[in-house]
Amino acid sequence: NVVSWWGGVQMGPPDPILGVTEAFKKDTNPKKMNLGVGAYRDDQGKPFVLSCVRKAEALIASKQLDKEYLPIGGLGDFTKACAQLALGADNEVLKSGRSITVQTISGTGSLRIGGNFLSRFHGGPKDVYLPKPSWGNHTPIFRDAGLQLKAYRYYDPSTCGFDFSGALEDISKIPEHSVILLHACAHNPTGVDPKIEQWKEISEVVKKRNLLVFFDMAYQGFASGDIDRDAWAVRHFIEQGHNIVLSQSFAKNMGLYGERVGGFTVVCGSAEEAKRVESQLKILIRPIYSNPPMNGARIASTILSTPDLRALWLEEVHGMANRIIKMREQLVAGLKKNGSTHNWQHVIDQIGMFCFTGLKPEQVERLIKEFSVYMTKDGRISMAGVSSGNVGYLADSIHAVTK
Ligand SMILES: Cc1ncc(COP(=O)(O)O)c(C=O)c1O
Repeated sequence: NVVSWWGGVQMGPPDPILGVTEAFKKDTNPKKMNLGVGAYRDDQGKPFVLSCVRKAEALIASKQLDKEYLPIGGLGDFTKACAQLALGADNEVLKSGRSITVQTISGTGSLRIGGNFLSRFHGGPKDVYLPKPSWGNHTPIFRDAGLQLKAYRYYDPSTCGFDFSGALEDISKIPEHSVILLHACAHNPTGVDPKIEQWKEISEVVKKRNLLVFFDMAYQGFASGDIDRDAWAVRHFIEQGHNIVLSQSFAKNMGLYGERVGGFTVVCGSAEEAKRVESQLKILIRPIYSNPPMNGARIASTILSTPDLRALWLEEVHGMANRIIKMREQLVAGLKKNGSTHNWQHVIDQIGMFCFTGLKPEQVERLIKEFSVYMTKDGRISMAGVSSGNVGYLADSIHAVTK
C-alpha cells in the first residue's frame, strides 16, 4: 500500500514566455514564426553562434585545460573582465578595489543571488520597485528570494513610449532606502529606454530618495551595438555616487544562452567593505550550487581578454544590433505598403531585442491562431526572430489583424 506523497500538488500554469515556444513547436504551418522568446536568430532564422565564440572554444580546447572546481565566486579572469566591461576598465571603483563581482548562472542566477543577498543583508525596506511592466521573471525571482514587489510607472501605452513624468513622480514617492530596479538598456519587454537627460534626472531623484539601485544589464551592446554606450547609465549612476548592485548576462550579447554566464557586482563604500561582502556572497552561494560552471566563463573571459577576439566580438555585437534595427524598419515599411494607417513609429524608436507592438490581446490571439505568429500575450515581439525572409509575412499578418 504505497503512499502517494504528491497527491496535493496541483497542476501549474506553463511559463508565460517559454510556454509560447511549446505551442509553436506543435504548430505545423510552414510559415510559423516564434517571436516569443528573446533569442537572436541570423537572417536565415537560424540560431547564431558568434565566430568569436567558435574561435575562443578552439583556443580553449587546444590548451587541454583541467576540469577542477572553480572557486565559489567563479573564474577570477572572468569576474575581472566582466566588471571591467560594465564599469569601464579605468573606473575608480575598480582601481580602488571597492567592488566585488562573483560569477553567476547567467542573468537569472545573478538576479537571484542579488535578491538573496538583499534579503539577508539590506537594512532598508525589503521592497523592490520594478518598472511597470518589467521582465516577467523579475517578480518570481525577487519574491522567491523573500522580497516584496512594488512598481513604478514606466511605459505609456498612449505613446508606446517612456512615461517619464509618471516614473519621476512615482520614484519621488518611494520610501527611503527601498530598492529600485532599473534596466540598464534595452528595456524588456517594452524596448523603451530613458534618454541621457532623463537618466540624469532619474539619478537625481533616486539620490534624493536614498534608494538602493539594482541595475539589470542583460543586453549590453544589444541596444545600440556599442557596449560603452549601452553601459552609460550604469557608469553615470556610479559617477554620481550611487553604490549600485548590478546583474550582468552574457546570454544575448555573446549568444551564450545555454552556457549560463553572468556576473553579480556589489559596489561598496570601501575595499574593506567589499571583502566583507565577498565573504558573505560566498557563504550564500556555497549551499545553493557550490561553485559555478566553468565552460562559458572560459569562453567569455577568453573573448574579453584576447584583443583580436574582443575586436571580432564588438563587430559581431554591432552586426546583431544592426540587423534588428533593419528589421524594425522593414516591418514598418511592410505595414505601410499594406496601407496601414496606424502610426508605427514606436516600432522603429524602440530599442534592443524586443518590440512592444501595442497589439491588443485579441489581436495577439488572432495572430497566433490564424497566422501562426507566436508572441507573448502582452503584444511583445522578439525582433531578433524576424528575418528578411519572413518580415513581409509578419507585416501582412499584423496588418490583417489591425486594419
Ligand atoms: C531583463 C532581463 N534580465 C535578465 C535576463 C536573464 O537572462 P539569462 O538568465 O538567460 O541571462 C533576461 C533574459 O531574457 C532579461 O530580459
